[in-house]
Amino acid sequence: MQPAESLQSRYEETPYRDQALPQFDLSRLLGLARLFQTPGPEVDPSELRVLDLCCASGRHLREQAAHYPQARFTGVDFSRAEIEDGQRQARAAGLENLELIACDLLDFEVAPAGYDVVLCHGAFSWVPDEVKQRIFDVCRQGLAPRGVAAIAYLTYPGWKQREAFRELLASRVSGVAEPAERVRQSALLLRLLHEGYSAHEGDVHAASLKAVVESMQKAPSNAFLHDELGVEHDPCYFMQFAEWAADSGLQYLAEADLGSMAIGGLSATASPILQELAPDFLETQQLIDFMVNRSGRSSLLVRDDAPVARGLALERFCELDFTTEFRNTRPANAPDGTPDRFESLDGRTMRVDEAIEKQMVTRLSQAAPDPVHYSELVDGEDGASEALQRHLAALVSRGLVDARLPIPQSAGPL
Ligand SMILES: C[S@@+](CC[C@H](N)C(=O)[O-])C[C@H]1O[C@@H](n2cnc3c(N)ncnc32)[C@H](O)[C@@H]1O
Repeated sequence: MQPAESLQSRYEETPYRDQALPQFDLSRLLGLARLFQTPGPEVDPSELRVLDLCCASGRHLREQAAHYPQARFTGVDFSRAEIEDGQRQARAAGLENLELIACDLLDFEVAPAGYDVVLCHGAFSWVPDEVKQRIFDVCRQGLAPRGVAAIAYLTYPGWKQREAFRELLASRVSGVAEPAERVRQSALLLRLLHEGYSAHEGDVHAASLKAVVESMQKAPSNAFLHDELGVEHDPCYFMQFAEWAADSGLQYLAEADLGSMAIGGLSATASPILQELAPDFLETQQLIDFMVNRSGRSSLLVRDDAPVARGLALERFCELDFTTEFRNTRPANAPDGTPDRFESLDGRTMRVDEAIEKQMVTRLSQAAPDPVHYSELVDGEDGASEALQRHLAALVSRGLVDARLPIPQSAGPL
């Protein structure tokens, strides 16, 4: 394992250019957490505090700080260049509810129970184990009793194949100091592999390897340098992550991508096999990763003393807003019997058969990007009916509809 200084100098040398993270939106994460939390003392939506670990220049936080002016945001990163760039941009945007701190996580002193949300994206799988432990410790110490942490990380088995490619690239460029030359030689190797797989048109295995190579080729060079050629690169199995979190006083709650947790969509014949195997909740999640060859997760964690429900807490729906990014793509003149297919902005499609579910998604897509409060969504539909809640729960579980905690926000889209 390389010393942390070496990792730090790599990030100082080539800034990462961090991303906006819509899946880590504040009202979305707190809405998700609410779905699995039993009622109890609550956070005040007008006084929320968010901490982002390894925030780079804080792009996600800057967007969130502008959108939720009453919430307070803190970002920490050890790249001084990134933090100073973020501070300049925050000043230019007049953001007074954002603080960006240049500090190694190992030295960061977290305010005990000081945060409702703690984020860590793009870092956990790329830092040494002692920093991973520090990420868990900061989450445990920093989370308020009803707070939620969201950590993104790489997972096996999906990352196994890509790891072989990474090892090939790393061995080729290990003696090359200049970042641009490391990227150039890696690009040549990837082209070579691409040529190899392209020569086997029709071979399913070659097609899948080619797709992996293509996804690596699409990465911007600064992200490629850190994500693929970085000093640390350490995917793990979901179970390892969940057990390590548990040893650190945190319990696994759910995925930020709720739809990816459901076994139902995988195959009807999988259910009886699973019933016979009878895995517990965490083992089920691990098995899903094998069934879909998952390569990454964004997992939500809460304190181990937080009361959580394993199923969706339907009684909490009345506190939440709902939204969708899916649109009905069924042509108006489609012949009778044509199923309604809903498509998301990023090209995912889902089939909806139940009339009441179609109505709800259609109502939400008409209002989008604005959310609709539960009471309006079920208005005139006998809002107290359990059946209605179950249909909404099905849409939420499949990831077609997002639940959000209503939080005061500035006008205009995020
Ligand atoms: C790949 S970037 C992710 C940036 C952003 N969170 C995103 O997802 O777009 C990883 C960041 O982690 C920071 N980092 C790595 N180790 C760190 C440590 N020990 N303390 C503080 N920051 C660290 C790096 O400086 C870098 O900005």
